[in-house]
Amino acid sequence: MIAKYLIANWKMQLDQDQAFRQATELKNLLNKEKINKDLNIILCPDFISLASVAEIIKDSKIVLGAQDVFYEKKGAYTGEVSITSLKKLACEYVIVGHSERRALGESDEMVNKKAKAVLENNLIPIICVGETLAEYKAGLSKKVLTRQVSKALKNLSNKFFILAYEPIWSISTSGSGKVISPAEAIAQIEILKKSIPAHFNNFDIIYGGSVSAQNIQDFISSPNIRGALVGNASLVAKEFFSIIKKIHPVK
Ligand code: PGA
Repeated sequence: MIAKYLIANWKMQLDQDQAFRQATELKNLLNKEKINKDLNIILCPDFISLASVAEIIKDSKIVLGAQDVFYEKKGAYTGEVSITSLKKLACEYVIVGHSERRALGESDEMVNKKAKAVLENNLIPIICVGETLAEYKAGLSKKVLTRQVSKALKNLSNKFFILAYEPIWSISTSGSGKVISPAEAIAQIEILKKSIPAHFNNFDIIYGGSVSAQNIQDFISSPNIRGALVGNASLVAKEFFSIIKKIHPVK
């Protein structure tokens, strides 16, 4: 199985100089390699670094994504960033509903509004869902995932989207010390897939949470998992590149 997406979520881990350096290094590493053209390599720096990263990666194999967006077109929304601004930087993807944003108060309704706005503007939302450790332990994963999926997708047009399954407790910085096994992630994604209303037929599902060069092949061994959202292991260009090489070995 060939993965289609490898998405770097740099969160608030790199300042603009570091983002500039890592994007430049990744571009140089990729320039020397033959990468399968079906693999989409997406960098999601913080808002401040988007413009400089956009400049570095133009005419490269890398495309740009944002970590969040606001759903209104324009107006008195202090601190927010519009889709128009993202489009001007040639952003193609937007992470929506990451658990770290939900933890800061983003509701299912807001996730839905953001996903809708992203699709209406012809960008691709990467909609994140996932259960907490307590929910997982209580056997509530299915219930939580089904709720998050149905609310996020409510009244969405049938345009292409990416759904990222990220068990919160498997995220490297969650502090749980645990990571879901690839077999279990595959089983959960099976459940997730079934919870998507039948009229949606244009999406891919990816996995996120402590993905590394060591485990990426196991996570993408299922045809249902079309790639990964990578946090920590994407912060150093060489390390991210080693993941890319694992899924697309150079012949
Ligand atoms: P991680 O983060 O790879 O560091 O676990 C993934 C994410 O939060 O998207």
